[in-house]
Amino acid sequence: MDTRGRVTRDGIRIYEPGDFAGMHAAGKLAATILDDVAEHVFVGQTTAAIDDFIRFSVEEAGATSATIGYKGYQHASCISVNHVVCHGIPGEKKLKDGDILNIDVTVIVDGWFGDTSRMYVAGKLSRKSERLVQVTHDALMRGIEAVRPGNTFGDIGHAIQSFVEAQRMSVVRDFCGHGLGQVFHAPPNVLHYGRAGTGPVLEEGMFFTIEPMVNLGRPETKVLSDEWTAVTRDKSLSAQFEHSVGVTAEGVEIFTLSPAGRFHPTYG
Ligand code: MF3
Ligand code: CO
Ligand code: CO
Repeated sequence: MDTRGRVTRDGIRIYEPGDFAGMHAAGKLAATILDDVAEHVFVGQTTAAIDDFIRFSVEEAGATSATIGYKGYQHASCISVNHVVCHGIPGEKKLKDGDILNIDVTVIVDGWFGDTSRMYVAGKLSRKSERLVQVTHDALMRGIEAVRPGNTFGDIGHAIQSFVEAQRMSVVRDFCGHGLGQVFHAPPNVLHYGRAGTGPVLEEGMFFTIEPMVNLGRPETKVLSDEWTAVTRDKSLSAQFEHSVGVTAEGVEIFTLSPAGRFHPTYG
């Protein structure tokens, strides 16, 4: 493993300027797959068929799925429908009209990890779901706007939490974003709630994800007996968006921007 670069006292690796290119390439592939998967989401489709397309796309690009074989997980994506918060396992259940789903893909390109997720809809998006998806998307972007050297991880969490709660929705506490780079999950835990000015200080060369999960109801979750699928305890709808980002001298580079400009569901 490559051990260049410095590690902060919080255990956060500081990557070098030349490392951004690798993250850009990995992020671009993951984002392209999320662009291309949109046409595979429709009423009557199974989430297993969506995952098959993703697995094929990763292979075709000559890349590797980071999730297949990760802690025993066997799929190229996580697909989380309606009240599933995250880590939904693709399966034979068919999508119904109005279902909202998060598709989360992580790829490895030349040793660099690209991790991103977006929301999709089968059939017609209800007003209630549209609002949830919009708020979750905007919460992620507000978190990203707080990324610049000298700000803290608490500033990111605070930006997300204050925005979401002002809309009378809730932020999931049980799952968080994470450092990544030449590994999938590394320090720090990137919390999507918190107080401004707290937590580690952001430095140029930090790579991590921001991936807020937002519920229409209460924030509590539970993991089902399959030991992966996390759901809202109150069965309320949940949404999530995820980008992989790097801290630059000026602010932030988003590695997983949609090449087709389709990151937001209503664009596609
Ligand atoms: N991509 C997820 C994340 O955002 C992790 C999925 S791990 C899996 O960190 F094993 F469930 F696929
Ligand atoms: Co992630
Ligand atoms: Co992810």
